[in-house]
Amino acid sequence: MTSATTPTPRPADDDWWRSAVVYQVYVRSFADANSDGVGDLQGIRQRLPYLRDLGVDALWLTPFYTSPQVDAGYDVADYRNVDPLFGNLTDFDEMITDAHALGLRIIVDMVPNHTSSAHPWFAAALAAGPGSPERERYLFADGKGEQGELPPNDWESIFGGPAWTRVVDGQWYLHLFDPAQPDLNWRHPEVRAEFEDILRFWLDRGVDGFRIDVAHGMIKAEGLPDVGFNSMTTGQRQSELLGKGRLPYFDQDEVHDIYRAWRPILDSYPGGRMAVAEAWAETPQRLARYIGPDELHQAFSFDFLDATWSADSFRKVIDTALAESTIVGAPTTWVLSNHDRQRHVTRYGDGEVGLRRARAAALLMFALPGCAYVYQGEELGLPEVLDLPDELRQDPAFRRTGESRDGCRVPIPWGGELPPYGFGPGGSELSWLPAPATWRSLSVAAQTGISGSTLELYRTALRIRHEHPALAEVGGITWLETEPGVLAFRRVAGDTELTCVVNISGADVTVSGHGRPVVASADLTERGDGHVLPVDAAAWFERR
Ligand code: GLC
Repeated sequence: MTSATTPTPRPADDDWWRSAVVYQVYVRSFADANSDGVGDLQGIRQRLPYLRDLGVDALWLTPFYTSPQVDAGYDVADYRNVDPLFGNLTDFDEMITDAHALGLRIIVDMVPNHTSSAHPWFAAALAAGPGSPERERYLFADGKGEQGELPPNDWESIFGGPAWTRVVDGQWYLHLFDPAQPDLNWRHPEVRAEFEDILRFWLDRGVDGFRIDVAHGMIKAEGLPDVGFNSMTTGQRQSELLGKGRLPYFDQDEVHDIYRAWRPILDSYPGGRMAVAEAWAETPQRLARYIGPDELHQAFSFDFLDATWSADSFRKVIDTALAESTIVGAPTTWVLSNHDRQRHVTRYGDGEVGLRRARAAALLMFALPGCAYVYQGEELGLPEVLDLPDELRQDPAFRRTGESRDGCRVPIPWGGELPPYGFGPGGSELSWLPAPATWRSLSVAAQTGISGSTLELYRTALRIRHEHPALAEVGGITWLETEPGVLAFRRVAGDTELTCVVNISGADVTVSGHGRPVVASADLTERGDGHVLPVDAAAWFERR
């Protein structure tokens, strides 16, 4: 094992993750220190003061490991090293040391469902042939049909097309994502031992937690049974069942054994090392099974991300998520955007309307108890880039399905007059995806110190979230009576209270009786003894 630098001691608060604000750094698009047009670890290191000033508690870094980058690093060839595109292990050590010195924790992505086809294990499996122990680490199977010319079952890749690829000797291997991402066989003890060791490798290097990629996927139903339909047979894609139904390759009960083995490893390190699941399950109840004192600490609430811009939709999702979190004793994990989904400014209507709503949604999310994840650039109000030329799109799903996640992955605009707006140093013009001209006014420099900018709204809200006693409580919320289309809830600590009001009613509303406004996503005007909260806006009021 490579020697790690001694991790800086963390404040002794093992429960930090319960109420943290975690900032997702999409490494290739955050900050480019070496002018090659791709973000890197030194770029993150240089921008750490920005993140501290923003007021977040931790960063989640998407995969920076050695990888052919077929799926932007979610195809890992060496789990214990850094891809030269992003730097090296020394850069990682320097970055985490500086982050810790600034009080920022570091969560790294763990990709256990599949390796890259460039991983030495997969190369060995191909070389060793059918029936070999090397093939046992993956999911190889003989095909159906007289000559084995048909895939072993009807499973479909999440990126479109069959989930099986045939190799030269006639066997097939399973890949729930790209063919360059072969699925591992998690019933194999060597696979389990290897990942437990990989976890320790990064824990020894000082990481504070892991985001578990495809956390629901590692165990497949015994016998690899057919789903019964797919886009070839009925036209319905199996992935449409994600989060809604059961699939034989997702959310199998046995997957929980893996996390029950991982938890003691995390708990054996000081400082509250945690893990958050990217898991899709049929119901919020099944999702909650991933979290708890003997499994993972958090699971993203994608229902919150998927809620439509309506008071009923938000209220239903929030109530269900909070109820589940009470049962399992872990706080809810709120998220509005990530590197796989259309940015919420655009989901909520795009343009001015979308931005207004996104700003209001931020105040809603930050007022809720639990942990909140911020996807890089949402603090700038960035929209999805919808008009990227097809030839520049790199998402492997694009070629198979026509759907692409590149529009939420455009590099962050830091400042300056010309694209890519300070992504690289000294006016570097390179960026792996082009930034639109409209982003000049959305850059960090353009918004810093500008009252009412989205960046300053985030800074103010995060400062209050940290300081306000009522928001520090991990307890529940009290919904208040309102007119239809308005969400209002209160959080209380002693004789201090904070009320969050979100106006989704389609008309201005007058808010009174909750004390003085401390932050608002749009200008409030005084009326009588209250304030007018405009359409698609949110505000926090406090009483002490
Ligand atoms: C997760 C990641 C996504 C990736 C996929 C395969 O869903 O968030 O970006 O493509 O897993 O690893």
